Amino acid sequence: MYADLLRRLVDDYELGGTSTAVLAGFESAPGDALIGLRLLGAVHRLVLSGQAPELAVFYPSVGGEWDAVLGWEAFDQVLAARGPELRNLLTQAPQTNEVGRSTALYGGLLRLAEVVPLPVRLFEIGSSGGLNLRADHFRYNLADGSSYGTADSSVVLEDAWSGRPITPAVLRIAERVGSDIAPVNPLSEDGALTLTSYVWPDMTARLERLRGALEVARKVPADVRREDALSFLRNLELSEGHVTVVWHSVMWQYLSPAEQTAGDALIVALGARATPTTPLAHLCLEPMRRTPEAEPEFLIVLQVWPGGAPRILGTADPHGLPAYWE
Ligand SMILES: C[S@@+](CC[C@H](N)C(=O)[O-])C[C@H]1O[C@@H](n2cnc3c(N)ncnc32)[C@H](O)[C@@H]1O
Repeated sequence: MYADLLRRLVDDYELGGTSTAVLAGFESAPGDALIGLRLLGAVHRLVLSGQAPELAVFYPSVGGEWDAVLGWEAFDQVLAARGPELRNLLTQAPQTNEVGRSTALYGGLLRLAEVVPLPVRLFEIGSSGGLNLRADHFRYNLADGSSYGTADSSVVLEDAWSGRPITPAVLRIAERVGSDIAPVNPLSEDGALTLTSYVWPDMTARLERLRGALEVARKVPADVRREDALSFLRNLELSEGHVTVVWHSVMWQYLSPAEQTAGDALIVALGARATPTTPLAHLCLEPMRRTPEAEPEFLIVLQVWPGGAPRILGTADPHGLPAYWE
């Protein structure tokens, strides 16, 4: 659907159509500003909030069905009618919180529990809406019929993982704290709309798990702060009788090389202070290379202090689902 829309948008723009006026002033925006996705997200927001009923009939996210020709006509009319609002929304960078990534994070936490069976304090950097801080409240179904997590959750992740079996465990999460430079409040209508608007409207499985996670968030509190990753890491402390877990997914690439080095150093320094009764774990799902020559993969990596070296636990899809345990 978005491939269709983007192709038509490019043609329209090059011919000086409606999109040219909407995008005026953004011509020299760099590629990584993702202006195309900003515009699609802005229009999706109008559709989701009931402000573009003539276009909604083509959007699967609100029960419609995509049609490349009629859908574009309705889209073009929205561009023509809602220019000022759309231009305002274009200043907002796309912001997503992918619930599927909880598969890698929760599975990694269960792996950790196999070696460190202590209550967990969860600290996430780049947590966006903090939805994955509730990962233990989602249900993970495996192809063999077994399931992990919370049985009656509104988030059900099918075929969540395969590979080396994971020992089921009841995790005790004592604290859930996140940080992000642009956090989204999933409990507010505006925040829920923001997170939903940047999911592509025909990706129904992603939309379903996001909507389920928004429901979980209303029941399970998490404290997400507006704070950059480095200052958050700098202020972290270990706690007696708990394993302190620093985790993150698909955020490390947004740090500069210098920030990445500083972030690693802060985690290692905290690890150096860890003891068997105040352990630290660093768990992440990030695009990485196994060796400098290898292709990047989305690797799930765990390091535990005191003592342990980083261990590749497995791999996952960029959206987390499915994961594979090595
Ligand atoms: C692609 S999103 C991933 C969000 C979430 N971790 C997930 O997997 O769904 C990247 C997130 O990193 C945040 N971010 C970027 N730079 C950051 C920084 N220096 N400190 C904290 N968060 C940052 C962004 O605001 C965004 O929420």
